[in-house]
Amino acid sequence: MPKNPNDLMDKLVALCRRRGFIFQSSEIYGGINGFWDYGPLGVELKRNVKDAWWHDNVHMREDIVGLDCSIIMHPRVWVASGHVGGFSDPMVDCRETKKRYRADQMFLIPSGADADRLYFAYVEGDDDSRKSACKRALKHARRLGAPNPDEAEGHLPFCSIAGGDAMATIVGPDTAEPGTLTEPREFNLMFESYAGALQDESSKVYLRPETAQGIFANFSNVLDSSRLRPPFGIAQIGKSFRNEVNPRNYTFRSREFEQMEIEFFCREEESEAWYSYWRDRRFKWYVDHGLQSERLRLREHDPDELAHYAKGCADVEYEFPFGVSELEGIANRGNYDLSQHSSVSGKDLSYFDDQTRERYLPHVIEPSGGVDRATLAFLCEAYTEDEAPDDKGNMQSRVVMKFHPRLAPYKLAIFPLIKKEGMPEAAQTLFNSCKQAGLTAFYDEKGAIGRRYRRQDEAGTPFCVTVDGQTLSDQTVTIRDRDTLEQQRIPADSIVDYVRKKTMPTS
Ligand code: GAP
Repeated sequence: MPKNPNDLMDKLVALCRRRGFIFQSSEIYGGINGFWDYGPLGVELKRNVKDAWWHDNVHMREDIVGLDCSIIMHPRVWVASGHVGGFSDPMVDCRETKKRYRADQMFLIPSGADADRLYFAYVEGDDDSRKSACKRALKHARRLGAPNPDEAEGHLPFCSIAGGDAMATIVGPDTAEPGTLTEPREFNLMFESYAGALQDESSKVYLRPETAQGIFANFSNVLDSSRLRPPFGIAQIGKSFRNEVNPRNYTFRSREFEQMEIEFFCREEESEAWYSYWRDRRFKWYVDHGLQSERLRLREHDPDELAHYAKGCADVEYEFPFGVSELEGIANRGNYDLSQHSSVSGKDLSYFDDQTRERYLPHVIEPSGGVDRATLAFLCEAYTEDEAPDDKGNMQSRVVMKFHPRLAPYKLAIFPLIKKEGMPEAAQTLFNSCKQAGLTAFYDEKGAIGRRYRRQDEAGTPFCVTVDGQTLSDQTVTIRDRDTLEQQRIPADSIVDYVRKKTMPTS
């Protein structure tokens, strides 16, 4: 990883665009803030993240089943979940620049004394914004002959002073004069639309802000149609939408994103044990898929951070180049969700245990992860600069994406050494048998072999197989390992097994 984290982010974003991992949505129209497209390599990577999650959490277990719910649901679902009343961020608008900021992500630098005091606002985590506010606060202090603001007082959270007359003393992050910011206002994060021809309150619907509620709303359907009984889980992967005030940090905070969520239902007295189980299991999943560095951590929430109904919550966090941020949350939500849906829908969602003759509302453990965030963490972790020999054996610097083999977009690339003497035909035959065996493979016959290796290193392809003159006489090929750079000669007909063993899950 490059030493300067900003440097890494810039390099990664450039590589993702150049090699077709991630593009800005609607780029030819100037892009649209908070929306991203996955290119040919990105879509394979992201699909592999989802497939690995589904395989490990659904196919490999007898106590979890899948679900795929509609994105638009009955609007009362969002009343029951609390999203209609409470899913909002405090927002501040600038009347001059028309920019909008999240009040809870703004800080103030006080400068000057008493009547002459001004507060210079900046956006948390935005270095340019902070530097600019510091500069303007310093200038203001100098003009008044006041002490250096940084030495005089620490920075204040915007929400601690904002409101009333004080607003007239705040200089916005992008303005020169104070008083252009509005008071913080609550802004609901759900995207709204209308179902049907009429566009009025009665036809108002929402794009789901999380996949979880579709699971709760289907709890009885799944229970009645499957042979499951608590403890059991329902898993779902799908798109969610949040009209984030400040989408940022590449795909990390987007307005359209994918979630992979499990709602695991159990008896109250077992919920603590299941919470610990899922917290540790989900953390290990990221480690097992390559986030093995000290950049990954598990953070248990303090009691004052918990929602009023939650009994425990832990975040799996990753140190991205732009800071430590959440990949997934694992929460013990009590029976809050089922009891809310029971009372708003009027349908009894309790479970009757015919062995103990007991009726109860199951408690829920929820591991809730973001597909895009996990994909971004895997991209950051994979980015490596090192050296590899060129065609003449001289060491040259290279960029290599060291993805876990299970997540790599292509499992292998196949090259004929030269474009003649039957080598392309033999390479194509091998390419076809790899594809038929379910391995995503890439065929390349263009350019020097060293350049072909470099292209696959950037794509993160774990193995490159070369068909050469010897292949035609003894049916062996060379296989090069992306990370160790070791090359060995093995029979062409063992390639499928060899690559499968190293890139597919063993259990
Ligand atoms: N059902 C619980 C729930 O939705 P959350 O912490 O709001 O909890 C869960 O979201 C996960 O979804 C987060 O850990 C993150 O990985 C992902 N996520 C949430 N908002 C996101 C956004 N704006 N952009 C990308 N991923 C997001």
